[in-house]
Amino acid sequence: MQIEHRLGDYKEIACDLLAYPVFEGETRDASLDLLNRITRGAVNAVLSSGEFKPEFCKTCNIFKPAGLKARHLLLVGAGKKSQFNPARLRQVAGAAVRSAKPSAVKTIGFLFRGDHPAGLASRLAAEGALYANYESDIYKTRNKEEREIETFLLLFGRKVAQAEVREGIRRGTIVGDATNFARTLANEPSNILTPSQFAARALTVASQTGLIARVMEREEMEKLGMNTLLAVSRGSEEPPKLIILQTHKDQGKKRGPLYAFVGKGVTFDSGGISIKPSDKMEEMKADMSGGAAVLGAMVALAQLRPKHPVIGLIPAVENLPSGRATKPGDVVKSYLGKTVEIVNTDAEGRLILADALAYARTLGATHIIDIATLTMACTIALGHANAGMMGTDQKMIDRLRSNCRITGEGLWQLPLDEEYRKAIRSEIADIKNVGDRWGGAVTAGKFLEEFVEDTPWVHLDIAGVDLEYDGWTFACKGATGFGVRTLVQLLE
Ligand code: BES
Ligand code: ZN
Ligand code: ZN
Repeated sequence: MQIEHRLGDYKEIACDLLAYPVFEGETRDASLDLLNRITRGAVNAVLSSGEFKPEFCKTCNIFKPAGLKARHLLLVGAGKKSQFNPARLRQVAGAAVRSAKPSAVKTIGFLFRGDHPAGLASRLAAEGALYANYESDIYKTRNKEEREIETFLLLFGRKVAQAEVREGIRRGTIVGDATNFARTLANEPSNILTPSQFAARALTVASQTGLIARVMEREEMEKLGMNTLLAVSRGSEEPPKLIILQTHKDQGKKRGPLYAFVGKGVTFDSGGISIKPSDKMEEMKADMSGGAAVLGAMVALAQLRPKHPVIGLIPAVENLPSGRATKPGDVVKSYLGKTVEIVNTDAEGRLILADALAYARTLGATHIIDIATLTMACTIALGHANAGMMGTDQKMIDRLRSNCRITGEGLWQLPLDEEYRKAIRSEIADIKNVGDRWGGAVTAGKFLEEFVEDTPWVHLDIAGVDLEYDGWTFACKGATGFGVRTLVQLLE
């Protein structure tokens, strides 16, 4: 999809569909009045009859409107004006694209309303349009959703700085494409996206975008003693990979912060010997969503060039039972040196993260953010509207939380009091990998905390937000790419 901008009179813009956001309860607005006059009353007719209520992301398509060059006029509900934050602007742009798709529309004009600065507004609309245009039907050979929108035109009724708009589109395209890339990876079935394939795709995308990438193989992990990571991968025929990414060549040499993103990359989680029930087990192909978010964010940041360098670590493994698999009760020594009793082989995410987190510190990380589909308990606590967030760096947590109104990715803090630590005490080793039934998201966080020691750190548990089941008005079902925007925004 091409994203461009046009200034001037929207009546005269040649596009198949003109998308016009309408706020709830807005009746006496001069620009809406003007649109109503141009269309000879068509707009008021649908609004005052109650035919169309401009609730958030609801749409109403008026075919062959009078007075406009566009073949369709799409009114897009923008919700209450007082709630029209940047995240909502992105979704409104997405809803316009999504509801245009079933028609034979190739070019959409999207008129900006609201008072966001032009550069930011352009970036958000570009992100939303690309997100909405994405389809997850990669392996359909028939009845495929082939109606891709070719051009998305950003229309400004007011005078705006062209350079700002161009830069907004550039940034929005980078982040939108990176988010869709993460979605593609998470939607891939595990027979296609094995740890090796994950690593291969990371190397390919890195060479295309100027990201620096290397893959650590099993032999090196063995030498370094990354035994909690290796313990998860033991049962599988697929070799483990540790994907190591960096945005800046000279990272680490300069003083100043070095951020590390660490993403769980379990390409399939059967539970291992502590095997999962078969219902919904297929969703465990997306258990590498945290890793996909890290790769997506790193790809975007390699192009956006943030001030501070960033490294990305993705431990990629497959968790399967077999004659070689790790068994409940096994004890292993982690890269950091702490010993771990593996009581439940289905609590594997924290095991691979333990070694990756400790390794991030070896690489000189001063700030660590990990992202993982870690616990069902987190989904039970927060549902699908917020990921769980916990950690030792309250400033970073506050920053991540306040960015939510821009990213549209909900984050809610959970506690990490010392009190919870006793749940993961082991009789035989330094620590065990599961607690009791209670507070499972937090005890998983306490486990990870053991491996970052005193480095400022935040953990994001995305188990409840990595997949969308119902389909949104602004996106298809499947992987959400959650985390790409959060991680990128943090560095901006
Ligand atoms: N990958 C799962 C968590 C998960 C479950 C994510 C469902 C998304 C949907 C994780 O590895 C896991 O199995 N966690 C266990 C931990 C338990 C054994 C302490 C869980 O949450 O049940
Ligand atoms: Zn598991
Ligand atoms: Zn898992």
